[in-house]
Amino acid sequence: MTTELVDYWQNYIDGKWVDGSDGGRIKVFNPADNSVLAEVAQGTAKDVDAAVAAARRVVASRALVDMRPMDRGRMVIDMGRKLRERKEQLAQLLTLDAGKRISEAMGELEGAAKYFEFYGGMADKIEGRYIPLGDGYVDYVVPVPYGVTAHIIPWNFPNNMIARSLAPALAAGNAAVIKAPELDPLTCYVFADLAREVGFPDGTVNIITGYGPEAGAALASHPDVDQIVFTGSVATGVSIMKSAAENVVPCVMELGGKSPGIVFPDADMENMVANMQAGIFMNSGQVCDAQSRLLAHADVYDEVVERMVAATEALKIGPGIEDSDITPLISPEQLNRVENYAQIGIQEGARAVTGGKRIDGMDGNYMQPTILADVTADMRVNQEEIFGPVLTVSKFETAEEALAIANGTEYGLAATVFTNDLDKAIWMTERLEAGQVHVNEWGVGGNETPFGGFKKSGIGREKGAEALASYYQSKNVGFKRLSRQG
Ligand code: NAI
Ligand code: MG
Repeated sequence: MTTELVDYWQNYIDGKWVDGSDGGRIKVFNPADNSVLAEVAQGTAKDVDAAVAAARRVVASRALVDMRPMDRGRMVIDMGRKLRERKEQLAQLLTLDAGKRISEAMGELEGAAKYFEFYGGMADKIEGRYIPLGDGYVDYVVPVPYGVTAHIIPWNFPNNMIARSLAPALAAGNAAVIKAPELDPLTCYVFADLAREVGFPDGTVNIITGYGPEAGAALASHPDVDQIVFTGSVATGVSIMKSAAENVVPCVMELGGKSPGIVFPDADMENMVANMQAGIFMNSGQVCDAQSRLLAHADVYDEVVERMVAATEALKIGPGIEDSDITPLISPEQLNRVENYAQIGIQEGARAVTGGKRIDGMDGNYMQPTILADVTADMRVNQEEIFGPVLTVSKFETAEEALAIANGTEYGLAATVFTNDLDKAIWMTERLEAGQVHVNEWGVGGNETPFGGFKKSGIGREKGAEALASYYQSKNVGFKRLSRQG
């Protein structure tokens, strides 16, 4: 097998590979058997300082803003092309590191490559404007990159999440410090190669591996960081925003969800099952917009449960490298958390119609794909993000009741409505509190469409043309003519 696996990766700071300042190392495991795959440097606050300083030097040199945006954009596009050339080997490594199925790893890398193409193509379309102020005045607005951007990356889609923020940051003319996820950092280093190969100056892209409370917190609270992008848990997001508040730094936050799929009696049931399966079992449910709640109309409730159980019990469980449907969770801790939630649901009165426990007798972090039926609105399993292959099913009688359950959590990331009744679909899409509302397909959209959360699911938007605006601020420039000419 060809992967890009090496035994030990260092931090990448100012164009050089360097050990952690304390010489510490973090072991990186394969979730399919918990064997050690490699080690990475344990980045420290001192390493973060060095990385931020390197990025600051690039910003101060004006190298990125003085470049013609069309040329900068071409470099960003080239990063995407080069990433695609390495897609197969990287997908193998991502599968070993993150546990995910190989076809999804390929999809993740393809999606990552597309972000560079999409935002690279926008670099020369970030325009200012002229504001008329009457005789004797010239006034215009200039888009100005923030400067040093910090990217704190989660483990569920490490490459995709880096590309999603790095591509627009570079397109807009920023330098970047990336904090790679400690659980699966091994593919993240490719972005160092890409930035160097296309000719970005040393220090434009820096990558630190380290623990969240150490390297992550040091980056989030660094006084010389100008903008922060984070995807992960609400608790960590809140702590990062508190640090950012001290420094008055803007944040883009993507904080997960409890996204419902809502099934009306007239829905195409085969399509619904296929989409609910993908929505909850992709990446074994470790997906921010996982469709973790199924709300079924009373008339079809029993049929919906039956169909979902049948489809779920047909899933193949095994390592990602075999392209299994259900792959191991990222860590033993995540498995404990997910199994614990399934048990909480059962104690709260939910009925485990399939699954409910970890899979004994397999070395890796395998959770049974689980469906908890008869879940009610107040149960914790209906309220809290589980982040594993656990689907809850709840019954509703009216569209109003479905809405109340759907909107009745602190999250608001995504929602899907399954119906062929156009009026009902429109009525629901108007009222669902979510940044992404889909009809008849989970996750309609792509690199081109804005993505983000209502309520505690986040602040700001990633993806699409909209997201680019998070990476620059405006400078208004005004002139007064002092004398009459001619
Ligand atoms: P987390 O939010 O703590 O970790 C995400 C990233 O933040 C990692 O790179 C981590 O090193 C970093 N981090 C952790 N603490 C930090 C701090 N104090 N300051 C700065 N950076 C910090 O999530 P974790 O613990 O890995 O997973 C726990 C739960 O979070 C999951 O079960 C899931 O519910 C949720 N989560 C949601 C994600 C999403 O896509 N929305 C992604 C990852 C986790
Ligand atoms: Mg790993």
